[in-house]
This record gives sequence, C-alpha cells and structure tokens, in this order.
Amino acid sequence: MDKQSITISQALAEAHRHIDQIDARILLEHVLDVAHAFLLTYPDYVLTALQQEMYLHFVQSRMEGVPVAYLVGKRDFFDLTFKVSQAVLVPRPETELLVELALDLTASGKPYRILDLGTGSGVIAITLARHRPQARIVAVDRSDDAIAIARWNAENLGVSNLRFIAGNWFDELSGEEFDLIVSNPPYVAESDPHLQQGDLRFEPLIALSAGKNGLTCIRHIIEAAPSHLVDSGWLLLEHGYNQADECRQLLQNKDFSNIRSYPDLAGIMRVTGGQINA
Ligand SMILES: C[S@@+](CC[C@H](N)C(=O)[O-])C[C@H]1O[C@@H](n2cnc3c(N)ncnc32)[C@H](O)[C@@H]1O
Repeated sequence: MDKQSITISQALAEAHRHIDQIDARILLEHVLDVAHAFLLTYPDYVLTALQQEMYLHFVQSRMEGVPVAYLVGKRDFFDLTFKVSQAVLVPRPETELLVELALDLTASGKPYRILDLGTGSGVIAITLARHRPQARIVAVDRSDDAIAIARWNAENLGVSNLRFIAGNWFDELSGEEFDLIVSNPPYVAESDPHLQQGDLRFEPLIALSAGKNGLTCIRHIIEAAPSHLVDSGWLLLEHGYNQADECRQLLQNKDFSNIRSYPDLAGIMRVTGGQINA
C-alpha cells in the first residue's frame, strides 16, 4: 500500500491484495474505531494520515503472520467478546462445540460444579459461567499471564460464579470433585511443522505443544480425571483432527462409559467425552 490519501474502499481493496478480506475489514474497523456498518455506509470516507499509517502497520503485521486477534486485542467467541494477548491462545470456533456440549449436559440449571482445565483467555469457563449462573466453575491454567487475562475477561463480562487457579492441571485441586470437567488442552505434536508456520508461530508454545505425539496432556487429564469426578460425572476433551480414536481408547482404559466423539462444523471429530461410574 502506498501513502497517498485513500478512502475506505481503496484501503480495503489495497489491503485485500495482500491479506484475507475479512482480516482487512476487521483491522480497518479497529483503526477507525467503527462498526462494520460504517465501512459499508461511508466507502468514500478519507482516512487521516494517522489512520492510514496505523492501517499500513497492521496490514504489514498481518502479512507477516501476526493473528488479527492479537493486533486488535480481542476475539469474539460464542456470544461474547474476549480480550486476548500473546499470552493466550486465540480462541477457535471449533471450541464452541465443546461449550455447546457442556451446556447440553448442564441444561437442567442445577448448581453443577464444572472444571475448565487450561483456561487460557477463559473463553470456555466464562461462557459457561454466563450461561449457567447457578453453576460453580473452577478454571485452571499453568500460565500466570493467561490467568491474568482470564480474570480480566471474567470481571469485564460480569461473571462471579468462577474461581481461577494458577497451577498444573489437578495439582491444586486435591479432594475436589466436579460434575463436569472440560478441557481444550495443548494437543499438537512437538515435531509438527505447523508450529513453525503461519499464525501458530505467534501463539504461546505452552498452549499448543504436547509431547512427542501431542497426547501427553490429554493422557494425563484422562488418567487423573476419575478421582476428581462425582459418580456419573462427565469429561469432555477437545483434541486434534486425528486423535479421536486414541482419546476414546484412553477413556475406555479408565472405565469411562457412554464414550463418544463429536464432529465440528467441518465434520471433523473434534471433541471426545465419557461418563465415569455411570
Ligand atoms: C489450547 S490452549 C486452550 C485455551 C482456552 N481454553 C481456549 O480454548 O481457547 C491450552 C491451555 O492450557 C494451558 N496449559 C498448558 N499446560 C498446562 C498445565 N500443565 N496445567 C494447566 N494448564 C496448562 C496453556 O497455558 C493454555 O492456556
């Protein structure tokens, strides 16, 4: 993009030569601090020099692979908007499946105890807390920086039925039991070349990488979950596109029942779950 005076429609067209159309739009909305409708209504609005400078900077960063969510500092998830930073994974649409399944399992509105392991920005725990105000939710993450972002989101979204714990998986939960444990743990194999490509390069390795075959965290959570679940309690795990069979096997090894994998919108088995002592 060059530095002559440009209008909204010119800025979008020029940016779209280098980056995705939706990314170009979201970045311009952010720079102008306007909603999408403004871009549609005023295509001939001329950007100020400062706005143009900022937009150029953001488009350049996006071209280098920085996720849009980090550039604008937020991401929509389910029906809420969450603050994000490079300390947390960018929430993915696939994870909404995990939340939908968790809401189905807790539909009766009882005071369920729910645990979210590896909460990151808090999207799963906070969305559940908003939709299930009677539930008591615990959210754990090993990263202090992630917990700080999640706390900020909870406060900003007015959620109080939620307790945050900085720690390693179940380590700080001795003696505590839950009706439902949910987790979107790291599940990328450490040798996976995707970790060195595209947007993943900018996301925290602790949120992505999980041992040789990507199953280290999943295996640990399935091993330890039964002693933190009430009878008939559920465990729901998000996992990689090719990990459903192994997840079901691991659940079977620990005597879970009603084991099932659930497809995301792309038809990929993305969440696997089961019930203990049912
Ligand atoms: C894939 S991210 C999921 C973040 C968020 N739940 C989401 O769905 O967007 C996994 C999270 O697990 C956390 N994590 C990694 N190892 C952990 C451990 N040993 N104990 C607790 N949390 C851990 C990471 O810091 C990261 O926030």
